[in-house]
Amino acid sequence: MSWFTKSLSSSLGRKLIMSLTGLFLITFLVVHMIGNMQLLKLDGGEAFNVYAKFMTTNPLIKTTSYLLYAGIIIHIIYSIILTRLNRSARPVKYAYEKASTNSTWASRNMGLLGSVILVFLVIHMRSFWFEMKFGGSMPMVDYDGVEYKNLYALVVAAFSQWWYTLIYVVSMVFLGYHLSHGFASAFQTLGLNHVKYNSFIKKFGIAFAVIIPLLFAIQPIVIFIWSQSGKIDVSVYEQMIQMAQLGQ
Ligand code: HEM
Repeated sequence: MSWFTKSLSSSLGRKLIMSLTGLFLITFLVVHMIGNMQLLKLDGGEAFNVYAKFMTTNPLIKTTSYLLYAGIIIHIIYSIILTRLNRSARPVKYAYEKASTNSTWASRNMGLLGSVILVFLVIHMRSFWFEMKFGGSMPMVDYDGVEYKNLYALVVAAFSQWWYTLIYVVSMVFLGYHLSHGFASAFQTLGLNHVKYNSFIKKFGIAFAVIIPLLFAIQPIVIFIWSQSGKIDVSVYEQMIQMAQLGQ
């Protein structure tokens, strides 16, 4: 076994990979959330569709996307390996152990939280990413003589349904809990902690874990309210709302 594979399969190596992929996914979340804010421009989706086309066709961003898919897969695989090893290292809990005094609920349930986020991700990618890349029935729209896939229509069609919006909002609560432990934990594993900064990293991690999922959750909530109040005319998207993957 080379030093490289040896390091990657050591306990610290595995934790390091979890931290690095986690921080990479955290960076993606910030960019994704800011980009999605274009959905709230009330311009019929022009800004969002132009942005989505750029994000899915720019060669540099496309390459980063492949790294992102790899990052998600590696993060999941290593989380399973680490959970199994932790369980086999201590199959029986200490009789006097009172977990809540030593650790937070999120830190003890990262596997559960991550699994819910994975289910969310499958639903999310199937609805938007898959349709955008491989869907045969994506509507097109024309801005200044240039054709764009109307991804905005698909997003509005999805979030005009209360149950779909609810799935997103509930999933963001799970994401928040996952981040509330993951953020500070990644810094600790990478050795980027110091008594002087620990309290700041912890507080910043908690603020991040509240603000980012909250801003993500606001997007479907606002689109749902606008679709019900008539601020967005959903009759234009009727056909999309009836599409099979939206359950109607
Ligand atoms: C309100 C919240 C969200 C909205 C409106 C939204 C919207 C979208 C849309 C329209 C796409 C397809 C366009 C594209 O491929 O770039 C997409 C892709 C994606 N979304 Fe989201 N998203 C949301 C939240 C999230 C969250 C919380 C996560 C992760 C936990 C996530 C992970 C992804 C991933 C991994 C992709 C594929 C990106 C790529 O191919 O580069 N999204 N999202």
